[in-house]
Amino acid sequence: MRLTVQDILDKKKKREKITVLTAYDFSFAPILDAAGIDIILVGDSMANVILGMDSTKEISLEEMILHSGAVVKGSEHALVIGDMPYCSYQVNPEEAVSTARRFIDEAGCQAVKLEWFDLALEVTEKIIHDTIPVMGHIGFTPQTADKLGSSIVQGRDFETAKRLIEQARSLQAAGCFSIVLECVPWQIAKIISENLTIPTIGIGAGSFCDGQVLVLNDMLGLFKRFTPKFVRIYRDLYADALAGVEKYVADVRSGSFPSEKECFSMKDEEFKKLRESL
Ligand code: KIV
Repeated sequence: MRLTVQDILDKKKKREKITVLTAYDFSFAPILDAAGIDIILVGDSMANVILGMDSTKEISLEEMILHSGAVVKGSEHALVIGDMPYCSYQVNPEEAVSTARRFIDEAGCQAVKLEWFDLALEVTEKIIHDTIPVMGHIGFTPQTADKLGSSIVQGRDFETAKRLIEQARSLQAAGCFSIVLECVPWQIAKIISENLTIPTIGIGAGSFCDGQVLVLNDMLGLFKRFTPKFVRIYRDLYADALAGVEKYVADVRSGSFPSEKECFSMKDEEFKKLRESL
């Protein structure tokens, strides 16, 4: 049985921390499920860590829908959230509701996430009016990083901190069921988490958030281009994968792969007949 939005809201009431990780495919989704993750976010960070793009703005709606569907197929327990790509609601806000609906009807997600932008409240309300649960996202918002100034950390001074608190309140009022706080000082995340009835999910926002999210490929050591300060690497799968592939290369070159055990064979009498016919 999948967790529901209500289960996530109840976790905050019961002061149970909410666990969130990203995933992008049918191989990793069941691993997250088996570990008991509450929410799988099919993040547009896929642009960087899977597709090698420089910006999350480059990923298409079709790519997001395809991979969201694979994650839904590969999981049974976690709530799956599809991340709305930049092109689908910031470039064309009038398409936001139909886009969100594709994540639900085609991919099978239970909710969508969208980042803060000028029309975030209007768009959020419309999607929720269409009965689709929405997770908000404030603080560092990669899709509009060019508008945020040089610092990744948002809300370090009085004015910007007040603005973040106001955004969080207005997203709750608009009907969001949770909000991601990305790269904000822990003090601001604490105030927001204490003031909202909906859960906050932090990434680089300290331990007072109601839950935590990390990018899977970062925490498993698979993405080497850069590692943000807030990432803890739980396993070095890069090293494990490299060792496995190096061994394969060596085995093929030496002839020790494949062995008899890894081959198919013909019946002896058929083989003999074939030999004699040549
Ligand atoms: O796309 C993503 O992975 C995200 C998380 C960093 C919250 O939005």
